[in-house]
Amino acid sequence: MIVRELIPKVYSLSAIDWDRKLFDEMVPLHEGTSYNAYLVKGSEKTALIDTVHPSMTEGFIKALKGMDLQRLDYIVSNHAEPDHSGSIPAVLAEYPEAKVLANVKCRTLLKSSFNLPPEVFVLIKDNQVLSLGDKTLRFMWTPWVHWPDTTLTYIEEDRLLFTCDFLGAHLATSDLYADDKARVENAARVYYAEIMMPYRTNVNKHLDRLASMQIDMVAPGHGPVHQHPEAILSLYRKWAGDQTCPQVIIPYISMYDSTAKMVAYLVDRLMEKGLSVQPFNVVDLDSGRFASALAEASTLVFASPTVLNGPHPAMAYAAYLVNALRAKTRYAAVIGSYGWGTEMPQSLVDLLPNLKANWFAPVNIGGTPKAEDFAAIDRLVADILTANTPTAD
Ligand code: FEO
Repeated sequence: MIVRELIPKVYSLSAIDWDRKLFDEMVPLHEGTSYNAYLVKGSEKTALIDTVHPSMTEGFIKALKGMDLQRLDYIVSNHAEPDHSGSIPAVLAEYPEAKVLANVKCRTLLKSSFNLPPEVFVLIKDNQVLSLGDKTLRFMWTPWVHWPDTTLTYIEEDRLLFTCDFLGAHLATSDLYADDKARVENAARVYYAEIMMPYRTNVNKHLDRLASMQIDMVAPGHGPVHQHPEAILSLYRKWAGDQTCPQVIIPYISMYDSTAKMVAYLVDRLMEKGLSVQPFNVVDLDSGRFASALAEASTLVFASPTVLNGPHPAMAYAAYLVNALRAKTRYAAVIGSYGWGTEMPQSLVDLLPNLKANWFAPVNIGGTPKAEDFAAIDRLVADILTANTPTAD
C-alpha cells in the first residue's frame, strides 16, 4: 500500500483488493475493489478516517507507521461494517492513545464485532464539529447508506466529504481519482444498485441534505476519489429519483424450450417497437449486472416454466433479488409454460411484495407456444408499449 496526498495534510491510504471476486460471498466483483482510509493532519490533532478490510491490515499498519506520526488522536468510524472498521483493533494496538469516534449505533456494532472496551469510544452526534486545529471535522449521521450507523465526515475548511459506502464503487484501480469516467460510472452504478437501491428513500433524503453544502471533493470508502463531485451526485439523483427509463428487463429460464420460444418472440416484438430490451438467463445469473439493469428500468417480464406448481427455483432467486433490492420498476408481467399446474404466475407475484408495479395479464400456456399464445404475447407487447409511451399532457 502506498500513501498519496489528496490535498495538503490529507492523505489517502487505499488497500486495493485486485483479486477479490465476491463480496460478502454474494456480490460478484467484476473489477475487484478497494478499501479506502484517509488521514487528516490538523495543526493540533490527527484523525484517521476509517480503516480497511481485516485481510489487508498488515499492509495498512505498515503504511500508517511509515507516515511517522507522533501520535494518533482519533479514529473516526463512519461505518462499522468490517471492510471499513476491521483494522481498528490493530490501529489501537499501535496507537493506544487514540479514541474511536462513533455514533451510538456504530459504537454498539463495533463493540459487538471487536469486543472493544467502552473507554476507547467517544460518542459523536449528528452535526457535531471537532477541531483538529486548522481543520474542522463535521459529522453527519446519514442512516442506511448502508447500515443504520452510517456517517459522513466533512472537512469544513477543505470542503472535502468522506462518504464511506455512500457514492462508492467496487473498483480496483491504481487511479487515485475518478478520471476514467465511463469505467467509474459503470462500477458506481452496479454498486449503487446492489448496496444503496434498497434504501432509495434514505439516499434521496441525504442527497437533499448535501445539496445545501459546498463540496469540492468526495472521498469514498470504495473506489476512486471524485474531484468533480457533481458527476457522482447527479448520477445518484438520477438513479435514486422516481423517474424510470423505457427499458424491459426479462429474467428468464426454460426447461423444454417452450418458455425460451416465448421469450425470443417477445424480445423480437419489443425490439420491433423500438424498446430497449435486456434478457437475463437466470441459470447463471450475475446479480451485479442484473441489479444494475434494474436501477432505472420501467418494466420487468419474468419468464419461467412451472416447477411443482410454482416458478423455477432459479427464477424464485431472481424474484427474491428484485424484491430485496426494491427496484423502482413501474410495470411487470409473468409469462411461461406449464405441464399440469397453472398457478406459477400468482406464486411468483407473491414473492414480490415490495415491487410496487402495475401487473399486466400473465401469459401462462400449456406446453409449447401456439398461434393463440403468440397472439397473447402480442397483446402484452401492446400493453408494454402503451405504458412506456409518454402522454402529451
Ligand atoms: Fe463497505 Fe457497508 O461496507
